Amino acid sequence: MLSKQSLAEIDRWVAKYPPDRRQSAVMAALFVVQDANGGWLTPELINAVAEYLEMPPMVAHEVARFYSMYDLKPVGRHKLCVCTNISCMLCGSDDVVAHLEQRLGVKLGETTADGRFTLKEVECLGACGGAPALAAGKDYHERLTPEKIDQILETLK
Ligand code: FES
Repeated sequence: MLSKQSLAEIDRWVAKYPPDRRQSAVMAALFVVQDANGGWLTPELINAVAEYLEMPPMVAHEVARFYSMYDLKPVGRHKLCVCTNISCMLCGSDDVVAHLEQRLGVKLGETTADGRFTLKEVECLGACGGAPALAAGKDYHERLTPEKIDQILETLK
């Protein structure tokens, strides 16, 4: 179920923890597997991660459900994760969301019909000093304006 490449990446994370603490790598492992599966996790993949890390499947499912970095249904090629937490809200995240929804023709939590973008609302990205902020995949973008958002969308094909 898990590819050799995913297992090798997971092993690199597992090696950072004591041998009897394999399950400490669960967040990284889920992220590796999600990446290899087009950006989302199936129940079977979560179970496979739990089995590989020798932990109860339910605990791995709890992690995958709790954190917004994981998706449990198919997503677009690019995930746009807009922070709407307090610093970003005070600096205009409502306008960021409105602009993205208007440009993409979808609401938060939806994927564009062409499968290009999934628009997500997330809690603090840890980029409060650059609010309002969004993460496009693994890239952070800060001090967003409508013009800057349009430029970001242009780069994501
Ligand atoms: S509140 Fe948005 S990055 Fe922290």
